[in-house]
Amino acid sequence: MKKIILVTGGAGFIGSAVVRHLINDTTHTVINLDKLTYAGNLESLQCIDSDNRYHFEQVDICDGESVRTVLEQYQPDIIMHLAAESHVDRSIDGPGEFIQTNVVGTYTLLEQARAYWNDLTNNKRESFRFHHISTDEVYGDLPHPDEMEPGTELPLFTETTPYAPSSPYSASKASSDQLVRAWLRTYKLPALVTNCSNNYGPYHFPEKLIPLVILNALAGKPLPVYGKGNQIRDWLYVEDHARALVLVALEGKIGETYNIGGHNEKQNLEVVQTICSILDEVKPKESLYAEQITYVQDRPGHDMRYAIDASKIERELGWSPQETFESGIRKTIEWYLNNESWWQAVLDGSYQGERLGAGS
Ligand SMILES: NC(=O)c1ccc[n+]([C@@H]2O[C@H](COP(=O)([O-])OP(=O)(O)OC[C@H]3O[C@@H](n4cnc5c(N)ncnc54)[C@H](O)[C@@H]3O)[C@@H](O)[C@H]2O)c1
Repeated sequence: MKKIILVTGGAGFIGSAVVRHLINDTTHTVINLDKLTYAGNLESLQCIDSDNRYHFEQVDICDGESVRTVLEQYQPDIIMHLAAESHVDRSIDGPGEFIQTNVVGTYTLLEQARAYWNDLTNNKRESFRFHHISTDEVYGDLPHPDEMEPGTELPLFTETTPYAPSSPYSASKASSDQLVRAWLRTYKLPALVTNCSNNYGPYHFPEKLIPLVILNALAGKPLPVYGKGNQIRDWLYVEDHARALVLVALEGKIGETYNIGGHNEKQNLEVVQTICSILDEVKPKESLYAEQITYVQDRPGHDMRYAIDASKIERELGWSPQETFESGIRKTIEWYLNNESWWQAVLDGSYQGERLGAGS
């Protein structure tokens, strides 16, 4: 059945992948509600923005009146909530914006969604869903293999791992997750939560590790590795995440949480070295790209290891990632090589690759 899906943060990295997937691969209608902060980019939606199933509204989720107007105008069946401040380093430099958008903004959206849902009539009220999109960073960090006895099984984040956020970003996301669960329990708002590992892929804002390294490598600039570079992340290709999110939004069980991950645990240094060796192959130059690697002061409070147990979504909803890290990183590098106009416009704007969040 055709649904009307309101996506908050649809001009961001993951939100735009969700919107492109919904327009290209389904028959649902999409309303993209986005404030267009520095991270929002309508160029990421150019390939679908003339489709008559796509609508854009420039709205701040903290502005309850405007959110209500959009809900009344479009009458969505599902809200997929991705709008957030999302960069850990920025949250260290300026946590206030993270509290405002991620906590107050989610609260405002929940209240507007609750009022809208309460006024819906039978069928539409019964099938309404609020899907909150979050991160595995709410769980804190896991023991690093270097700290464990050889042969010990490495733990993973499951849906019942207690929350222990480390950064202002992850603390604000943890708060928003808990607000959603409180609105589910207290007001019976039909909500679902997903927590995902690190994403990478096309249209990724170049302040994040993978696009930063690709673009600095091409520009002949240093490739910054925080600390020893031994921090472990579980990488997921963004289009695999978008498919998982739409599946949960449509078929997930109300009240449930689903962890989403790529089974791709890699040390940051290994990620940087992999990018360098693929670039040596596809865009060779006189010296090796790895010679540009530079070790810089670590991020304050840096989590050592994230790794997701995604068996619940695989078992219950039949989702699994289509890309391995090797196939996804190659596609990502090729995308950046072929889409210079997209990233050059971003670099000509407010961010030129400078170090953020080094801490005081
Ligand atoms: N990037 C990751 O690796 C990752 C992993 C797991 C979960 N997540 C979560 O997924 C969601 C999307 O992440 P992303 O990487 O696409 O983020 P992003 O920073 O690329 O995009 C965020 C989007 O939200 C919009 N936005 C910000 N504040 C807003 C406000 N007040 N009102 C309306 N719109 C606003 C921005 O304009 C932007 O388009 C976030 O909630 C994030 O916590 C991200």
